[in-house]
Amino acid sequence: MPESIAAKLPLFPEQASTMASRVDALYFFLIGVSLFFASLIAVLVVTFAIRYRRRGGTDRPPAIHGSLALELTWTLIPFGLTMIMFFWGASLFASMHRPPDDALDVWVVGKQWMWKLQHLEGKREIDELHVPVGKPVKLIMTSEDVIHSFYVPAFRVKQDVLPGRYTTLWFEATKPGTYHLFCAEYCGTQHSGMIGWVVAMEPAEYQAWLSGGEPRQSLASAGAELFTQLGCETCHRGGSGARGPALTGLFGKTVELKDGTTVVADEAYLRESILNPRARIVAGYDPIMPTFTGLVSEDGVAQLVAYIKTLGPATAADTGKTSQGGS
Ligand code: CUA
Repeated sequence: MPESIAAKLPLFPEQASTMASRVDALYFFLIGVSLFFASLIAVLVVTFAIRYRRRGGTDRPPAIHGSLALELTWTLIPFGLTMIMFFWGASLFASMHRPPDDALDVWVVGKQWMWKLQHLEGKREIDELHVPVGKPVKLIMTSEDVIHSFYVPAFRVKQDVLPGRYTTLWFEATKPGTYHLFCAEYCGTQHSGMIGWVVAMEPAEYQAWLSGGEPRQSLASAGAELFTQLGCETCHRGGSGARGPALTGLFGKTVELKDGTTVVADEAYLRESILNPRARIVAGYDPIMPTFTGLVSEDGVAQLVAYIKTLGPATAADTGKTSQGGS
């Protein structure tokens, strides 16, 4: 039913991702419950106003001094409904925030007032994102200046993009088409112009698009060059006696820190370790690494992280993706 309503009313954007119908179902449930109770209360207000209107002084209904059945009813029904809303919403929230492991990475940088996107294979885009249909895509996003927000109504996904850290968002497009991309956080005078398109294509078409144009260096291989250029391997070469932790197979692992806590080595952790290395020191090492803030651009950090992700068994899939597009 939601689909037919969506088709007739321009108020509802197209449903073009695996998440869209799930988000809409919850939305219609919330609207339905609100409408039902709003109408019920409105009808009761009018009915009671008429039924219990002021009449003669002797015409009084008997007073009620509590009713357990009534109180249980109006407590348990709302409780049940709100619990349904909570667990339904929480499970949807959790799946929206947990990208599948086989998702394609795309790096996104927001700035006043454009979206810069880069695919692992090295292809760059501005205000346009090409993705394959039927394959989860994970965006790793940051901002060069203020807070922006990446919003694709047809996919029912929206995520703030913050300066100084990574946020991620994932979706899986279900039908080919061109969909609106908006910035959904007021970010300055041209905020309303910070718009673009997401183009969902059949996988074969997407591969052709990806390998079109002049050949490009993959993100990981640019990262490998930068890694050498910055002299990272002086300390991170691995083996005993190395001054820094080895990076092979690091991505996705749980890292033990000096202070006894642990952290999962995701993109955000790698980024922090490059730009603010003393924030979290790996157990067994000294805080000797200098910061690379100012020495590496956002693009550079993305390249380094993409490269580190390809090191070792945990990211065999990433390596496969990279060589696929590069050939
Ligand atoms: Cu960027 Cu609003």
